[in-house]
Amino acid sequence: MALIAILPGDGIGPEVTGEAQRVLEALDLDLHFEQAPVGGAAYRAAGHPLPPETLSLARRADAVLFGAVGDPEFDRLDRGLRPEQAILGLRRELKLFANLRPARVFPGLEDLSALRPEVAGAIDLLIVRETNGDVYFGEKGTRVTPAGLRQGYDLMAYDEVEVARIARVGFEAARGRRGRLCSVDKANVLETSQLWRDVVIEAAADYPDVTLSHMYVDNAAMQMVRSPGQFDVIVTGNLFGDILSDQASMCAGSIGMLPSATLSADGKGLYEPIHGSAPDIAGQGRANPCAAILSAAMLLRHSLRQPEAADRIEVAVIAAVANGMRTADLGGEASTRAMGDAVLARL
Ligand code: NAD
Ligand code: IPM
Ligand code: MN
Repeated sequence: MALIAILPGDGIGPEVTGEAQRVLEALDLDLHFEQAPVGGAAYRAAGHPLPPETLSLARRADAVLFGAVGDPEFDRLDRGLRPEQAILGLRRELKLFANLRPARVFPGLEDLSALRPEVAGAIDLLIVRETNGDVYFGEKGTRVTPAGLRQGYDLMAYDEVEVARIARVGFEAARGRRGRLCSVDKANVLETSQLWRDVVIEAAADYPDVTLSHMYVDNAAMQMVRSPGQFDVIVTGNLFGDILSDQASMCAGSIGMLPSATLSADGKGLYEPIHGSAPDIAGQGRANPCAAILSAAMLLRHSLRQPEAADRIEVAVIAAVANGMRTADLGGEASTRAMGDAVLARL
């Protein structure tokens, strides 16, 4: 029996993870679910966004299904107590450094992309985003400059071990796909990126079958809109990967459709939509649960080694959407629950 930690979080998090859990339950696998509060909900209940009980459940579990955290109500709290610290804390504590964010156009959704359908239709890419380093985890603070001005700072840093291990994840992923890896950096300006590029090139020696290219992040943002079909696997740092994956979602059609997996070296995994808590639509039953449901499929594939069950979920989501099931982000009026029902009906 596998233990799945359900961490619903804030805003639409509970709405979408509820549907994902229903789908997992319907598969009749030997799964046991335990739920714990996280983010703003946990701050309200226990005074901390990642209480010790929640962290220990995440450690004990075979995999974590995460909703989303964040609530404008908490945006002025001390940074260490804000909801977002929960996901950052989980990534750090569980050493979840490899965030896989696949983006593709689902049949029937070509017209939803912000791009022309013939451009959007070619999207089938995977962003491999590092999630244990970069400006996210460097020294940060505010101080007063000698001129008496308030100054904020966040140190951007990567060491060679951190770069080499995410590079390997990128190469392995490319090997299992179309054999092309594009490393995205800003090596023309940043020392962090120059080291990144050097280490990625060193790692390439072990992957002669993968074609490696390099792109500056500003150009990558442009190229993703110009011709996203050129990308197979993108490997990049924490901040660039965060931004490029939201952009990829809208090139593909909707942020409500994109799942993610964040993995550690020892096979631990946290699964979550790439979207946030969407305070603007929370509590209305209008959120698209597909990103969460597809995250559950990634959970089965990567942590529980149940590829057939993962395929069943993905096929059911594709069929539900292809049949015209549309939540608001997809241009329709279906509720979160109705989308969940439509997927369940096609499992
Ligand atoms: P967001 O992703 O929550 O929302 C951006 C826009 O996309 C909103 O208009 C929202 O309604 C829409 N949207 C997002 N998911 C949707 C879905 N499933 N169905 C339909 N529409 C959807 O980003 P934001 O507004 O910048 O952030 C809101 C809060 O979420 C912030 O507190 C932020 O820190 C947090 N956040 C958390 C995570 C996470 O938990 N992993 C990720 C991103 C943002
Ligand atoms: C994401 C989110 C998080 C990030 C925030 C909420 C800390 O935007 O998972 O994409 O920046 O990694
Ligand atoms: Mn993000």
